[in-house]
Amino acid sequence: MNVLRVTGGTPLFGEVDVPGSKNAALALLSSVVLGSGQTILTNVPDVSDIHIKLRLLEQFGVRFSWHEGTLFIDTDNLEGWEADEERVRPIRTSFYLLGPLLARLGRIKLPAPGGCKIGARPVDLHLKGLQQMGARIELDSGVYMAEVDRFRGANIVLEVPSAGATQHLMSTATLADGVTVITNASIEPEVVTLAEYLIRLGARIEGAGTTTISIMGVNELGGGEFRVPADRLQAGTYLLAGAITRGSVTARGILPEHQAAVGSKLLEAGADVEVGPDWVRVSANKRLDAVKIKTMPYPGFPTDMQQPMTALLATANGTSFVEETIYESRSGHVSQLNRMGGSLDQKGNATLIEGVETLQGAYVEASDLRAGAALVLAGLAAEGETVVGNVHYIDRGYDDLEARLVSLGATIERTSDQESGTVLSG
Ligand code: UD1
Repeated sequence: MNVLRVTGGTPLFGEVDVPGSKNAALALLSSVVLGSGQTILTNVPDVSDIHIKLRLLEQFGVRFSWHEGTLFIDTDNLEGWEADEERVRPIRTSFYLLGPLLARLGRIKLPAPGGCKIGARPVDLHLKGLQQMGARIELDSGVYMAEVDRFRGANIVLEVPSAGATQHLMSTATLADGVTVITNASIEPEVVTLAEYLIRLGARIEGAGTTTISIMGVNELGGGEFRVPADRLQAGTYLLAGAITRGSVTARGILPEHQAAVGSKLLEAGADVEVGPDWVRVSANKRLDAVKIKTMPYPGFPTDMQQPMTALLATANGTSFVEETIYESRSGHVSQLNRMGGSLDQKGNATLIEGVETLQGAYVEASDLRAGAALVLAGLAAEGETVVGNVHYIDRGYDDLEARLVSLGATIERTSDQESGTVLSG
């Protein structure tokens, strides 16, 4: 098992070219099976969730090769209809293949999904929508058995604007008979990216990025080339790294509007935020002030930035309040920040944070992807050495985090826990 050893206390300065978006790429890889022919995806992030997804696709006859961020994917010869549990379980977006594979193969057997343990994460909206479009789905001992003759258009009203359900149903509907309208659709940027990609393959979609999306079904989709946009969540993490270390970090190659919610909270806390056509710079030369955060669907404060922001607020001046409204238990970082000398009190999905002057290096464990990012940020600001365990969570969504942080002046290295002499039960 690897750990990240972070020596804190150095302000970070410099620029980061932000890698492709994990969440966007995962959504594209769920939909790639809808088309036949060759698809080329560029700027694909090298993170473990992508590798897991590719291994699952391979099981259904998808062939691929990967050269320096470019994925060449061939979906001409889809085959099989069952997936192994161990290929499905590790990531939640395995499930988003159900509709697209059904549309192509007519039947499929897919174990229930996994992913980061941050709450119940039901798939009821996905199931209801697919059923409305004509799928017959049964759950038998944790495995979904599904069949369809041909999907048909439907009027689907989502109870909550789920990003995953919107993506899953929108992509499946591209091959349905007739028109599908999704109401109360998610307007997260990754939904828009997916729609742009599907349109490139020949789909007819209107309204992506608004709360009502119309999909006019077509008989088939082809291949095409598409660039995965920069990852707004990795970008936000690097900007917070600049702020928490009282340095100045520029995230490049991004859409600045995606950082608006994080940027405005950093401004409110006393940081400087500059914005260019495809970059955002955050600078801080003093201890930042406490702020209130409430996570909301886009364009509100992103739930994925809640944990990294909490790390920053652990050292802010005053009392901050953080409310998580999207997930039940995105709070595994709280106890670990307290191990580092933080003063955080969590009740339900709210965290009260009394900012401390400095955190102290400690052995801490990531409980999920963004908790891992939060602990690395805390380590960068802390006195002494922080050892972050469960690095595999961080590897799910950060493409070479250490190298990028080192390029900004951080001292951080990956070692095995034996080498570091760490007590893992810590
Ligand atoms: C995606 C992102 C995740 C991000 C989240 C919200 C990926 C791989 N993950 O997750 O990083 O935090 O969007 O921006 O892209 N819900 C239901 N029933 C359903 C589906 C969802 O009740 O069938 C609820 C969830 O429990 C949650 C809320 O809807 O409370 C939002 O979840 P959703 O938008 O679906 O998130 P994901 O797509 O899983």
